[in-house]
Amino acid sequence: MDDGVFQFNKFLIDTVYDVICLIYNKNDLSKHSIEQCASRFYVLETVARVPYFGYLSVMHLKETFGNRAVGDKDRMRTHYAEADNELHHLLIMESLGGNSSLFDRTLAQSMAFGYYWYVVGVYSFSEQAAYHLSELIEDHAYNTYDKFLSTNEDTLRKMPVPAIARKYYEEENPFMFDLFCTVKEAKGEPSSLASRPKLESLYDVFVNVRNDEREHWKTLCNLVQYEDMRGVGQVVSSTRSTPKELVAVGAADNSA
Ligand SMILES: [Fe+2]
Ligand SMILES: [Fe+2]
Repeated sequence: MDDGVFQFNKFLIDTVYDVICLIYNKNDLSKHSIEQCASRFYVLETVARVPYFGYLSVMHLKETFGNRAVGDKDRMRTHYAEADNELHHLLIMESLGGNSSLFDRTLAQSMAFGYYWYVVGVYSFSEQAAYHLSELIEDHAYNTYDKFLSTNEDTLRKMPVPAIARKYYEEENPFMFDLFCTVKEAKGEPSSLASRPKLESLYDVFVNVRNDEREHWKTLCNLVQYEDMRGVGQVVSSTRSTPKELVAVGAADNSA
């Protein structure tokens, strides 16, 4: 993708992420209680889910004006399923006490409000740029949960499964869940709720949350790179920028 957009998105998301890390725990997830970590995750989850509402808002508006491209229906359903999944991450963090402080709630909700309108603006002009913003967020989310799991495994394995996690991952109809798993795994099978581990402790809950973030990231990588949720082939990799020199060479080749 365009180098300027790529660099600006990366700067923006890395800065916001670093500020949140600075406020919460100074990026060290091993020195704080699970409740303190849940506050940080509550803020991240509140912000991370608004892009999906932003995409849906713009797509609904375009639909209203008669702009109904083939495939939009499937994409809207997937974005709703992603938003629903992020809502359940948020409910899990709330069940762990992540939203107990007025400061956390105010920070999270203010950021979410501002970021929603920013995404609506970006998505209206460039779907690729808006999807790339979320690709970066989901990558941060996966790495954050992965680090949290490895540094707190013993504690998490002794903690119970929150009722909301049990309901979402084990008791409810998996239709909505499977809808956002758009990318096949290496063995060729689509990811699904049935392939997830049984919930024995809070550790398994966070494994599920982490893996959900990876599913979001895979779908977004494909949307950025191929404008298709399922992508091309089965190997998904982070989006890379195209240096200006290569763009210029490509333009010259096309005009020759
Ligand atoms: Fe999430
Ligand atoms: Fe996510």
